[in-house]
Amino acid sequence: MVDLSDRLVDALNSMYGTHPGHRAAHAKGVLCAATFTATPGAAVLCRAPHLQGAPLRAHVRFSNGSGDPTAPDGARDARGVAIKTYLPGGGTTDIVGLTLPTFFVRTPEDLLAFNAARRPDPSTGEIDMEKVGAFLAAHPETVPAVTAAITAPRPESYTRLAYHGIHAFRFVAADGSARHARWHLVPDDGESAIGDDEDVGPDYLRQELADRLAKGPAVLDLELELAEADDPVDDPTAVWPDGRTRARIARVEVTGLAFDRERDGDVLVFDPTRVADGIELTADPILRARSDAYRVSVARRTAAPS
Ligand code: HEM
Repeated sequence: MVDLSDRLVDALNSMYGTHPGHRAAHAKGVLCAATFTATPGAAVLCRAPHLQGAPLRAHVRFSNGSGDPTAPDGARDARGVAIKTYLPGGGTTDIVGLTLPTFFVRTPEDLLAFNAARRPDPSTGEIDMEKVGAFLAAHPETVPAVTAAITAPRPESYTRLAYHGIHAFRFVAADGSARHARWHLVPDDGESAIGDDEDVGPDYLRQELADRLAKGPAVLDLELELAEADDPVDDPTAVWPDGRTRARIARVEVTGLAFDRERDGDVLVFDPTRVADGIELTADPILRARSDAYRVSVARRTAAPS
């Protein structure tokens, strides 16, 4: 029996193709240098070392969702963000999110079934909409993410998108009190899209980012959306009611493109389960499946060519 993590990455490979040296998903991206600075209020909510207020070095990788590194930037696609913050005492912590407000499915097994339903027919290249419709009818929890994905406008800039952590985490304060929350990254420049008919090159997002950052840093605010008592915390498809309290916990200042990692054999992996002391994982089955799937993708993308 093939391991679940291998099957998850196989499903991505069969949807996007196999591209040696590239991530199985979010293959095309831009790595940036950044500074992560917690707000004074963050330390009240959470004892994590990177939330105590000192400015810290960070890397931010913006990406397109596709596992095909040659897919044009204008394609209708979810976008990703990954932030690695270098902790004061050594070590790192990662957050990894999407422009979608929720995820497609509740479990890795459902993800395999969903990917099978939406995989284009190899002979025609077409998606069988009947299969997709049958999956959605049986899984109404998938509808909000699908709707968000197919209606997402083309971004003007990676730095003018809002990103969502989707999973809840448990944030523990210095006095031991704890709250579940989901994080969101909100651009200071505001969200902005461009029209479908606008003529853009295949790599316009990278070029725009280089041009934007040449003018000065782009800032995104990290906010926590605090769960109320009955909000599901281990279901990445669950939509929480509007109006939950939001607390701004950090300012992420993206300062320029970065060329100091992912070179000379350095492997950069962003893993949402790499949390710092004071931040805890829930039982969310999707969150729990990600680390091993990312490890499989890393093993494949770093394997010597055969
Ligand atoms: C079981 C569900 C999921 C699977 C199987 C999966 C699979 C993958 C894989 C294989 C990679 C490439 C890893 C690497 O080579 O470093 C990846 C990257 C990524 N995933 Fe997922 N993913 C899942 C869920 C999610 C969710 C829920 C989110 C957002 C909350 C997300 C956001 C991202 C982002 C932003 C990247 C790019 C990270 C980077 O820049 O290195 N994924 N995913």
